[in-house]
Amino acid sequence: MAAPVEDAFRRLFKLYKRKQPLVELSGVLDFSRLEVNGSGAKVHPAKLSHSSVSDQDIQSAGLQPISKWKAYGLENYPGFIFISNPFLPGCQHHWVKQCLKLYPQKPNVCNLDMHMASEETSDLWGKSQEQLRHKGSRKKESRSLLEKLRWVTLGYHYNWNTKSYSSDHHSLFPTDLAVLSQHVAAACGFSHFKAEAGILNYYYFDSSLGIHVDESELDFSQPLLSFSFGHSAIFLLGGLKREETPLPMFIHSGDIMVMSGISRLVHHAVPRILPCPDGSALPYCLTLSLSEGFPIGSSIIDLCSKEDWDVCASYLCESRINMTIRQVLGAGQTFSTQPKQETYPCKDCEGSQQQDSEDTKKLTDSS
Ligand code: OGA
Ligand code: MN
Repeated sequence: MAAPVEDAFRRLFKLYKRKQPLVELSGVLDFSRLEVNGSGAKVHPAKLSHSSVSDQDIQSAGLQPISKWKAYGLENYPGFIFISNPFLPGCQHHWVKQCLKLYPQKPNVCNLDMHMASEETSDLWGKSQEQLRHKGSRKKESRSLLEKLRWVTLGYHYNWNTKSYSSDHHSLFPTDLAVLSQHVAAACGFSHFKAEAGILNYYYFDSSLGIHVDESELDFSQPLLSFSFGHSAIFLLGGLKREETPLPMFIHSGDIMVMSGISRLVHHAVPRILPCPDGSALPYCLTLSLSEGFPIGSSIIDLCSKEDWDVCASYLCESRINMTIRQVLGAGQTFSTQPKQETYPCKDCEGSQQQDSEDTKKLTDSS
């Protein structure tokens, strides 16, 4: 394979991916600490549609009333909205648990299916929970199955080989996640958004997600929604061209990013996952419990038991989970109207060659 061209995006990706020497992070935009913005980026409050979802419905998805959200836009990125952790205390637990316990279950698809028998990849949670609960006392080399999970696809299952979706590879999209996504999209002005496909990425401290554009969906007029839980990451938001220098920013647990308009089609990547700066095992917001009086009975989120949260917390001590939710088809559109896509090889698919890790959407671990 020819050596990839060194463009501005790749230069920054390599810089932030590097652990030694430690890169200077004062130029990384932190939406949770805008009073010390050393990035040079021009940030402004984003306009939200406060009346699009009732406070009751938004609360039932585990979110604060829209009027309380801290949502921002960026001068050079029309259509980009960053919502700084709008989740209510204790409500991220439900989504973390779903990403670990429920969403990896069949008929959803995960990276382990590519090289393991179906009996082995069924019940990843059941097969891993004891190991995770006793993680403190076990040797580092024995990673549980859950810790080998790198991606899960939902709804229309993304085909990493052909970089496309198809009508014949589809399973029911989880209802709770569809509701959460529709509420967030509506708050951002997209009241007709339909959650049709999801890619869940599971990162370790040594994982990164290569430079890519999400362009496999057939309708770009609908936004791409991204939800993050667990350890913080550095996210690079680039331009339509790889030559444009990307803007580095932190994504913390609970943060939501909405990419729409021109920003729906920009290059982006996650070069690095970061431990908590104060040495804590988990970000502070994940240590909070549900407020007394939270109406769990009328909510789409369910109570995460202490037993389940112990497993999730042990998992999250070294990781980050990201869910990106997409609408694939436009109103009235079908797959048959779609021209045939160019094919690309990828790492975890049989019979393919490995691509350079900086240039593929696939999440890779440094060796
Ligand atoms: C993706 C993606 C970003 C993230 O899955 O397409 O860009 O923060 N994820 O993991
Ligand atoms: Mn992406």
